[in-house]
Amino acid sequence: MSKWMMSGLVACACIFGVYLLLTGLPDKEEQAKEGTAFTVPERAVDAATSEQIYQSMCISCHGAELQGAIGPELAHIGSSLTKEQLFKTIKNGRRGMPSFEKRLSEDELITVTTWLASHQ
Ligand code: HEC
Repeated sequence: MSKWMMSGLVACACIFGVYLLLTGLPDKEEQAKEGTAFTVPERAVDAATSEQIYQSMCISCHGAELQGAIGPELAHIGSSLTKEQLFKTIKNGRRGMPSFEKRLSEDELITVTTWLASHQ
């Protein structure tokens, strides 16, 4: 009798373990998403669209050659900031840098981010 109870307990523990594994994992993924915010997807550089956006929205502060003016130089920004940092800075702004969340779509943000990231 006690043998059956033991194996019953072991089976319950196993099922509980599997249950935790299955329900625990999505939770962790959710946390990871919030923690690291957003991963910028891999894209080909679209220089034409990016330059258009840059000229209408960024040139006044970062200069025609990305050499910097009111804002810092961006000509080699791809070697100091990751795509995620670039994306976040452009989207949310930072001190003197305005937020472009409302003025650029997510697609445009990714386009400009990819272009700037290629400036190593
Ligand atoms: C009103 C002026 C202004 C405009 C317009 C502007 N920026 Fe900026 N930007 C700044 C300033 C000032 C900083 C420095 C912020 C700081 O010190 O934290 C900055 C910082 C940045 C940085 C981070 C640079 C670094 O070295 O960390 C990036 C990337 C950037 N801007 C991209 C852009 C892009 C792309 C646009 C156009 C969509 C844009 N900026 C438009 C003023 C501006």
